[in-house]
Amino acid sequence: MRPETKQKTVAAAVEARKRAVAPYSRFQVGAALLTARGRIVAGANVESASYGLTCCAERVALFKALTEGEREFAAIAVVARLSDGPMPCGACRQLLAEYAPDAVVWVADSARPGKVRTFKVAKLLPEAFRKVPTK
Ligand code: THU
Repeated sequence: MRPETKQKTVAAAVEARKRAVAPYSRFQVGAALLTARGRIVAGANVESASYGLTCCAERVALFKALTEGEREFAAIAVVARLSDGPMPCGACRQLLAEYAPDAVVWVADSARPGKVRTFKVAKLLPEAFRKVPTK
């Protein structure tokens, strides 16, 4: 992977975060998936007045990429205004384990996009649930 690819992906997450729809928590999160072929697909969190319907930035970006036909992912960048960056929630970890099992997660404070922490999806959700196909 080219060295600038990580910063480009994080920058896309920072841009996407500006389009978060978070009127209730006011906590804006941006995410950007890097596909195996080098395409970047970004998204941000969207909240509902029925709070539980809220969708995290990671899942918005993932659902967008999947429904645009993408199937192989190298990385996902996630950013918010938190000093260590936002770690994906459990629900997002499950979806990432299913659809981006080989990806790394780049996490950063949106105000300090040069300081990135790296995790593996497989490590963030060990022994993830998988539906075993019957015959
Ligand atoms: N949120 C994300 O978008 N991603 C995360 O990794 C954690 C939380 C959103 C959901 C909600 O809109 C807001 O942050 C506050 O929880």
